[in-house]
Amino acid sequence: MIGKLNHVAIAVNDLPAAMALYRDTLGAKVSEEVPQPEHGVTTVFVELPNSKIELLVPLGEGSPITGFLEKNKSGGIHHICYEVEDIHAARDKLLADGKRILGSGEPRIGAHGKPILFLHPKDFGGTLIELEEV
Ligand code: CO
Repeated sequence: MIGKLNHVAIAVNDLPAAMALYRDTLGAKVSEEVPQPEHGVTTVFVELPNSKIELLVPLGEGSPITGFLEKNKSGGIHHICYEVEDIHAARDKLLADGKRILGSGEPRIGAHGKPILFLHPKDFGGTLIELEEV
């Protein structure tokens, strides 16, 4: 069911510092900051030869990563995203296997303009998993 690793998302406290780290120290191609008000985050995409890193900072009130950064004061890996071909088929298979989908269970449009779902971390070894239809 799952395909390629699409991205690893890292929550950070200081986005310009994280951008400089990836661009200047690690020598990666780093995008501009992209505010995503409907997701409560500002994102920066780091392009790697085989995948992407998504740097996240909270945006606005009630950001979904505020609590994470309170628990993880230095930031940390927030979620990993796997590609799927058919997100509804993937959702139905997961539900049939007793796995929990976060939110309404209906895919919504994610930070890359594609349908996404998030899976409950307690069902996946303590890892928040995003599925993205490609
Ligand atoms: Co993501």
